[in-house]
Amino acid sequence: MLKNLNLDDFGIYEGISETIVTTNRGWTSNAAPMGIIRKKDKLFIRLFKDSTTYDNVLSEKVLVANITWDPLVFVNSTFTDLEDSDFQTINFNCRSLVTLKKAQCWVAFECTNTKLTSEALVAELIPIRGHVNKCLIRAPNRAFFGVIEACIHATRYQLTGEDKYLKLIKAYGDIVDKCGGDNEKEAMRLLYGFL
Ligand SMILES: Cc1cc2nc3c(=O)[nH]c(=O)nc-3n(C[C@H](O)[C@H](O)[C@H](O)COP(=O)(O)O)c2cc1C
Repeated sequence: MLKNLNLDDFGIYEGISETIVTTNRGWTSNAAPMGIIRKKDKLFIRLFKDSTTYDNVLSEKVLVANITWDPLVFVNSTFTDLEDSDFQTINFNCRSLVTLKKAQCWVAFECTNTKLTSEALVAELIPIRGHVNKCLIRAPNRAFFGVIEACIHATRYQLTGEDKYLKLIKAYGDIVDKCGGDNEKEAMRLLYGFL
């Protein structure tokens, strides 16, 4: 554990922080939205099976949690692969870590005490390195959270095909229309295209 790394300085507070988790295996980098769970100073991640992130974490036992307010990154990394040029590779203790170039900041974690169930893995996260690229002062905007909620319902819709998720996505789409800027509206348009 890095004694001098204060998670508050990286925007990771108690509860579940929605981050973009980057992982890699060999030369292949991956990004996906994942929640980092913080209970006091303990951190965890729960990864459901059948994702690239799950496979990479199981094999490499390391991940990077990137903090971003870019709704397009949330939508794109949920449903497609990001471009190679979106990633940056850094060397740390003879291993390579991948981060998102445009993240406001990131924290790299070692994944330990991994527990496997039939559906998911839960790993404890130990911070090993953190970096702040730029400090962003931004008031909460309902449209950004609307895009995040819509992404979550869209992943459930893809899994189950249940109509109730389409209704929820539409309700969050209305909030994005009302409160969003161009980025949030573009993110929502992209999301509808993936359904
Ligand atoms: C905001 C948000 C948070 C998510 N959190 C998690 C999570 O904590 N664990 C998980 O297994 N999937 C989570 N997901 C779903 C994954 O991001 C999704 O299954 C993704 O397609 C996996 O991509 P991958 O195969 O590239 O890893 C989340 C999705 C969103 C939109």
